[in-house]
Amino acid sequence: MGKALEGVRILDFTHVQSGPTCTQLLAWFGADVIKIERAGHGDVTRDQLRDIPDADSLYFTMLNSNKRSITLDTKHPEGKAVLERMIRDCDVLVENFAPGALDRMGFTWEHIHSLNPRMIVASVKGFGPGPYQDCKVYENVAQCVGGAASTTGFDDGPPMVTGAQIGDSGTGLHLALGIVTALYQRTMTGQGQRVLAAMQDGVLNLCRVKLRDQQRLERARVMEEYPQFPNGQFGDAVPRAGNASGGGQPGWILKCQGWETDPNAYIYFITQAPVWGSICKVIGKPEWVEHPDYATPRARLPRLREIFDTVEQWTMTKSKFEVMGILNEYDIPCGPILSMKEIAEDMSLRETGTIVEVDHPKRGKYLTVGNPIKLSDSPTHVERSPLLGEHTDDVLGEFGYSPQQIAALREVGAV
Ligand code: COA
Repeated sequence: MGKALEGVRILDFTHVQSGPTCTQLLAWFGADVIKIERAGHGDVTRDQLRDIPDADSLYFTMLNSNKRSITLDTKHPEGKAVLERMIRDCDVLVENFAPGALDRMGFTWEHIHSLNPRMIVASVKGFGPGPYQDCKVYENVAQCVGGAASTTGFDDGPPMVTGAQIGDSGTGLHLALGIVTALYQRTMTGQGQRVLAAMQDGVLNLCRVKLRDQQRLERARVMEEYPQFPNGQFGDAVPRAGNASGGGQPGWILKCQGWETDPNAYIYFITQAPVWGSICKVIGKPEWVEHPDYATPRARLPRLREIFDTVEQWTMTKSKFEVMGILNEYDIPCGPILSMKEIAEDMSLRETGTIVEVDHPKRGKYLTVGNPIKLSDSPTHVERSPLLGEHTDDVLGEFGYSPQQIAALREVGAV
């Protein structure tokens, strides 16, 4: 079976996390992703957070599967000439250098476009054009400037960042969509274009509901589904809402049996309006079904704390999986708090290819997250990440360099 992006050749200048997530996705969809790295060093994550001496780290291997790696010094005159030849013959260049680095290398948009008018040049940057456009940005910086940190955590605590890498991997996803969209537009225009995904913009896009709430707050002064209502004070900006649900169906995290010793013995419980009768039955409060203080979503809003405390008295008598089993019989939405250990051992995720075991010549077997997007006619087969420069000779050969020419490039330090 063919792959969706077969025939698309990508020059991958990405490093760390945001860019590599993007190009890994495109590789899983069938693109030929050629990762260009500096000789001797390569992507900085190859040796960051290493768990096995001298073997590429999990940080690197889990973000760079299905790619080929070549080493090329793009500041060396002969390295520049190699890159120019590759640009003429590829479809997309992806990069997440610090602002201006590609230009400083001599590869401005104008230059790339003149070499290959069909080429798409896709970039992750911390910020879009404006006062902060020159700043370097990492994951948590993006979470802070994109609205995630100010709206995450509890009201009486400091802003919090989340474990989900919404700044890096989230922006990589945004960029991947931009690239395939530009490839589609190119089928009609024949022209490449620039694609920019700024990390601040990507995080804000994922925090869209909080900008919604900012405007609701300005209009109504309170937001009834927030835990601050009716007990606390609202200021002039969206407050941190603890574990409250982001939508119109109130939810909270509740203790389950074993919470005293197990930090993940909890469940997310949603008091979805259509199943209120079932909730009352399950937790042993049949009188709440008709009681005017509890019968309607509006009546329940000022009493959510009391309601969740009561539900918790019931959830604490059972394990999170028992609670989940019972609630699902009644179609009551809930989610056990799964630890990474539980997720890693979940065989159903292995069966769907969402968690994959890969073999690596230096580090042996390791787990990685496979393609979360499943295409029925373009299956993903996850392959290990490349060693540094593993494909230099093969790739340069494909671009017309003879073994003697490659040896000469190596001799002068261009590759
Ligand atoms: N040959 C020669 N030089 C190369 C090269 C190659 N193959 N690959 C990279 N370089 C050079 C770059 O040209 C740059 O040189 P310059 O500073 O002289 O212009 C240098 O290596 C360093 O690149 P840079 O991107 O600035 O790395 P950094 O370690 O200083 O910064 C980030 C790292 C992530 C902070 C920065 O790249 C950044 O802000 N990126 C955009 C936002 C982003 O993606 N952040 C999330 C990361 S997960």
